[in-house]
Amino acid sequence: MHLTPEQISDYHEHGYLLVEGVFDDAEVERFRAQVPGIFADDSPARVLEEGTETVRMTHGHHKTNAVFGDLVRDPRVLLPARAVLDDDVYVHQFKLNAKAAFDGEIWAWHQDFVFWHHEDGMPEPRTVNAAVFLDDVHEFNGPLIVMPGTHLAGRHDEDARDTGLTDDDPDWMSHLTVDLKYELGRETIERYAGESEMVAPKGVAGSVLFFSPAIFHGSAPNMSATDRTMALISYNSCENHLLDVPEPRPWFLAERDFTPVTPLG
Ligand code: SIN
Ligand code: MN
Repeated sequence: MHLTPEQISDYHEHGYLLVEGVFDDAEVERFRAQVPGIFADDSPARVLEEGTETVRMTHGHHKTNAVFGDLVRDPRVLLPARAVLDDDVYVHQFKLNAKAAFDGEIWAWHQDFVFWHHEDGMPEPRTVNAAVFLDDVHEFNGPLIVMPGTHLAGRHDEDARDTGLTDDDPDWMSHLTVDLKYELGRETIERYAGESEMVAPKGVAGSVLFFSPAIFHGSAPNMSATDRTMALISYNSCENHLLDVPEPRPWFLAERDFTPVTPLG
């Protein structure tokens, strides 16, 4: 439930920490049982893989689904988030990333914090992502890839680009599709590749990958026959709450209720 001092310092040094076997099989089954109904719901918070009916991701279920509502308050994810941020936290964003068998597409290299800073008015990268594996993550189903240490490389927004969306698409779609607005460019990755290896933390369902919103990360397409569903909770430090912006994004992308999350039980 509590990270050890070594785990906390590992997190701060490398920008990520994999904790295996946090949730047991019965708990994972309970999470997984929620997913088909959620994915079938044609809501604005659901994004499909381009040109398909396959779900890429859906948002906000910590507020619409009791099981995921409990998950964000579970001490096994909440207490580590509070520990690495050294503050009370609230949920900035909750999403289910599907990365479906065969159809799950690429996530280009990016830093989450660039989106949250520019689009949502988040002052600092005082956020931690907790990615709860709902399926086993292996080398063939598109594991998340991180570049350890790059969470200290500062904000790289010089490669922002026009993603070619039409006027009919809401602007926030450009943060969620294969063509990301704030993708990290090749020169940036090349520059840091000399100093940082790439790591793809893998583990059984029920493991949790904590990672910094400033770390360079992405993932390859899923070429396997097994899904790689993850519940991704982005906890923000309450002191780092969002500032006003001219066009706030929908609540399911950028929460503006900064009430601290309290642990279950
Ligand atoms: C993300 O960067 O938020 C998601 C990446 C992935 O699901 O592989
Ligand atoms: Mn990301």
